Amino acid sequence: MSTTKHLIAPSVLAADFARLYDDVQMVNNSEADWFHIDIMDGVFVPNISFGFPVMQAIAKHAAKPLDVHLMIVDPDRYLNVCKESGASIITVHYEACTHLHRTLAAIKELGCRAGVALNPHTPVSLLRDVIQDIDLVCLMSVNPGFGGQKFIERTYAKIQELRVLAAGVNDSLLIEIDGGVTTANAAQLLNVGADVLVAGSFVFNAADPTSTIKTLKDINIT
Ligand code: DX5
Ligand code: ZN
Repeated sequence: MSTTKHLIAPSVLAADFARLYDDVQMVNNSEADWFHIDIMDGVFVPNISFGFPVMQAIAKHAAKPLDVHLMIVDPDRYLNVCKESGASIITVHYEACTHLHRTLAAIKELGCRAGVALNPHTPVSLLRDVIQDIDLVCLMSVNPGFGGQKFIERTYAKIQELRVLAAGVNDSLLIEIDGGVTTANAAQLLNVGADVLVAGSFVFNAADPTSTIKTLKDINIT
């Protein structure tokens, strides 16, 4: 388990797109660590969110790193533009990469941190031969494509399995949890080994998003 303080990454997918500047400033002025940017293509997932022009507009005002979650087929085609659009972390889906090892190398070559996301049905054991090449694993705790879905309980066990898989091989690996994160599950997620909590609707639909971010940030690992 990581000994450093966990990170909070609000998902801009749940922001008010007509007031995006205000929501970017809210995150800037909060205790959040990263912006989580969900890019969907309508093919890998059954939804289309926004693309690189919108991400560039966010990057222009964002004072914190952009953690980009590519829910797209053939992500290799978009790594360059993703970096140029302001990404610090680029996460691709295991299920979308035929040559994952090569894709991870390409992300690092661009100077970004490399992440791999796993759908709920994908076992963490499939990362065994590439675990030392990954900076961040994003465990999907909902089926990707939409905000506001119910958290899948199996995620706790996957975090523990991933920690065991990475032990001694990649002890600085960041484990990120994406989907259905609220104060009802955040403490347990951190206690079993999560490092980064993504939260979309729980933050942006709250009456006070800034204090909701602070509540998530202030959770102490027991
Ligand atoms: C889902 C996205 C998530 C989403 C999380 O496909 O990857 O980042 O925005 O939203 P909530 O926190 O509402 O489940
Ligand atoms: Zn995401």
